[in-house]
Amino acid sequence: MNRGRVSRREFIRRSAGTALAAPAVLLDPAAYGSTAHGLASPPKPVPPSDRVRFGVIGVGMRGFSLLRTALELPGVECVAACDLYDGRQRLAQEVVDKPIPVTRQYRELLDNKDIDCLIAAVPDHWHKQIVVDCCNAGKDVYCEKPMTHHLSEGFEMIEAERKNGRIVQIGSQRRSSVVYAKAKELYAQGAIGEVCLVEAVMGRNDPCGAWQYAVPPDLSPQTLDWETWLGSAPKRPFDPLRWTRWRCYQDYGEGIPGDLFVHLLTGIHFIAGITTPPERAFSRGGLVRWKDGRDVPDFMTTLYSYPNFQVTVRVTLNTETQEYTQFLGTGGIMRVRENDVRVYAQDGKDHEPCAPGWPKKMKAEYVEKWHRENDPRPGSQQAVADLRFNAPPAYDADRDHLWNFFQSVRTRQPSVEDATFGNNTAIACHMANFSYFQQTVAVWDAAAKKIKG
Ligand SMILES: NC(=O)c1ccc[n+]([C@@H]2O[C@H](COP(=O)([O-])OP(=O)(O)OC[C@H]3O[C@@H](n4cnc5c(N)ncnc54)[C@H](O)[C@@H]3O)[C@@H](O)[C@H]2O)c1
Repeated sequence: MNRGRVSRREFIRRSAGTALAAPAVLLDPAAYGSTAHGLASPPKPVPPSDRVRFGVIGVGMRGFSLLRTALELPGVECVAACDLYDGRQRLAQEVVDKPIPVTRQYRELLDNKDIDCLIAAVPDHWHKQIVVDCCNAGKDVYCEKPMTHHLSEGFEMIEAERKNGRIVQIGSQRRSSVVYAKAKELYAQGAIGEVCLVEAVMGRNDPCGAWQYAVPPDLSPQTLDWETWLGSAPKRPFDPLRWTRWRCYQDYGEGIPGDLFVHLLTGIHFIAGITTPPERAFSRGGLVRWKDGRDVPDFMTTLYSYPNFQVTVRVTLNTETQEYTQFLGTGGIMRVRENDVRVYAQDGKDHEPCAPGWPKKMKAEYVEKWHRENDPRPGSQQAVADLRFNAPPAYDADRDHLWNFFQSVRTRQPSVEDATFGNNTAIACHMANFSYFQQTVAVWDAAAKKIKG
């Protein structure tokens, strides 16, 4: 190998081509509108007049975690909890660590004048009714993702939010993440040029990841109000597995799209400023492994068409993989993960003459001319640089998302993830399922507010 030639190439690569290594920059959440950032820097105290008193409806896996995180925030207080299962009422009291009223009737919380707002972390088939009831009762509400179980519910929820002037915030925490805020800024600045493709992936490989949660030993029709839990779902006899593993059944959840796509889609909608559902969706997938009676697939890939780019979302419960979303642009790749965002910059130019299959003399003359015209002079060209931003240690997007909700309740400033935003990502999830189950391309008909095949 000609060492001189290699070093010349290397010179060109370094001065004009491949990007320079990126030192990591620590993100400051305060610069992105949140003051609840990370456990490392405690938020400022809140005056007693600004205290927000909330109630929690649903104290399961998610409600428990939200409750615990909310109690770390200044100026908020949990004053009541509701769950249909007695064990979860006890759990709420353990977390709050003081006697609070607990009930099976969430309407008691809506009638309680001491309560400013609710956190609702119930299975998806209950989201619409609880959000509408909260709004009609004059209460603000933080409702978990995905916003809806059925397509039509979203428009009813938007109307309840609008007509009652309530704060509705959907619980996709990436919407408040400092990492995603930085990615949005980089995207808007054109850090990776023109984007035509986005890829988002996530993978799990264990029973818990596939929603096979353990059944509490004391769960029975005596300790759980099973009839109310069924809500608008088809009536059926008490079934502990359905209560515990509701994600596995279409009666209560939306499988992989509603549980997991929604997080990835929220990130994409937020970063790229998307304010509508996708135009089309086409899904493939199957149920190959977790054949435990569930009626939803355990892996799915969906190709979405948006006006400006195509998106593929792939989630499997059969193989552990990294979770990331990457935007592919003419200026490189922006890869967003839970705690960091990186730009792998590309200049999109030739760094060598590109004239394959020419006779020798013609080629030599062209190569000579090409170098004369294209080789950078030292110092004359700006090198493209990779970028790397990390969330602070112990950063918690849930904390910032809850903080944003309580701030909206205090200030009446709009919710960061209102019902319209939540509805668009939920519709994208319904489109993925429509395509999968109907085995057709799902098309969003905005005028009719319907998905068509
Ligand atoms: N944002 C996230 O990262 C995240 C993570 C997990 C779950 N979630 C969402 O949170 C929600 C709850 O999920 P989970 O895993 O905590 O479920 P879960 O089954 O563990 O808990 C739900 C609880 O709600 C109670 N409940 C159901 N209907 C009720 C009603 N009408 N009134 C009072 N209580 C009722 C149940 O008894 C149960 O205890 C779902 O929408 C899920 O998609 C979000």
